Amino acid sequence: MQKLFRTSILVGVFAASLGAVPATVSAQETESQKAVLVTGASSGIGLKITEVLASKGYFVYAGARKPEDLAALNEIENVESIRLDVTVQEDIDAAVARITEAGRGLHGVVNNAGVAVFSPMNETPEKDIDFVFDVNVYGPYRVNKAFAPLLVANKGRTTTIGSISGFVSGARGGTYSMSKFAVEAYTDALAAEMAESGVLVSVIEPGGFKSEIRRKVVLHAMGKDPEKPGQLTAEEQAQLDERLTRFADLKEPDAVAEATLHALFDEQPRLRYMVTPDQEEAEITIRTVLTRVAQLNADQPFSYSLEALQEMLAEAVAAQ
Ligand SMILES: NC(=O)c1ccc[n+]([C@@H]2O[C@H](COP(=O)([O-])OP(=O)(O)OC[C@H]3O[C@@H](n4cnc5c(N)ncnc54)[C@H](OP(=O)(O)O)[C@@H]3O)[C@@H](O)[C@H]2O)c1
Repeated sequence: MQKLFRTSILVGVFAASLGAVPATVSAQETESQKAVLVTGASSGIGLKITEVLASKGYFVYAGARKPEDLAALNEIENVESIRLDVTVQEDIDAAVARITEAGRGLHGVVNNAGVAVFSPMNETPEKDIDFVFDVNVYGPYRVNKAFAPLLVANKGRTTTIGSISGFVSGARGGTYSMSKFAVEAYTDALAAEMAESGVLVSVIEPGGFKSEIRRKVVLHAMGKDPEKPGQLTAEEQAQLDERLTRFADLKEPDAVAEATLHALFDEQPRLRYMVTPDQEEAEITIRTVLTRVAQLNADQPFSYSLEALQEMLAEAVAAQ
């Protein structure tokens, strides 16, 4: 699992405009620019999605927490930053009010904000599990619930950045995988429930791509608060650098942004998009899921023959 989890910061200035309420837009703008909310847009995958959407002319409400990130996001054309901690209901309610007042409507939500901790299950304090679930699981639940009326009004889209860790788990990856497995269950339920209202739901499953998440995981493992690591000693900095070197060659998450675009704007979006940087991660994920099928099927009174399983697989593949 650690192998699977091989592991851009905004330089911005504090701007006084953060709390500014946007002016109501013209009807022409409303029609030509579909608006999308991206949570966790300060770095990594969320920043990449924000940049790609904005460069294609979509209007992005970019959620972030730190003043300098909000200010830097505001510098991107077609982007308006919005203070949004997905664990804080007041932030979410304020974002709904602000986006509603802006008058553009909302075509899509990208639930990207995410965190991770890696440690053996029996050594993981409950507060770490709460921390991860609060962001990765309750975050999309809270955000989708709050923005549902706007999405329904637009017959829009909502997608969550899950992970191949939503299918693969293993030593030390339990807490993160538990949260991402939950995202899979959540997505299936929400998709079934929202279909009638015309809102299409999906989940993107990235493999390992370049972002800030591994730096935060290592800081956490070093006993530092990733959000406020403070001044590291030279020894701690060297330890951090050393543990991050093996992730230096990870690819930029452009392919994840492309899949997100498809989920948001294609006429026939898929429910799931696996996006891995290489064949190896795709193979591990597919084999893990197939192994789980074999485990379920084994030694029980209603088992299927290999031939019947192959037929089922062929049907499932044909349905995609
Ligand atoms: N990179 C990968 O290899 C990979 C693979 C599979 C899945 N993913 C998933 O991709 C998503 C993005 O992660 P990333 O890899 O791009 O990591 P990242 O660079 O660390 O970005 C995580 C983002 O989430 C934000 N965030 C954290 N806690 C938040 C909260 N309580 N409320 C709102 N925003 C919060 C962070 O904001 P701050 O800057 O304010 O902390 C940051 O913008 C996550 O869901 C992650 O699980 C990543």
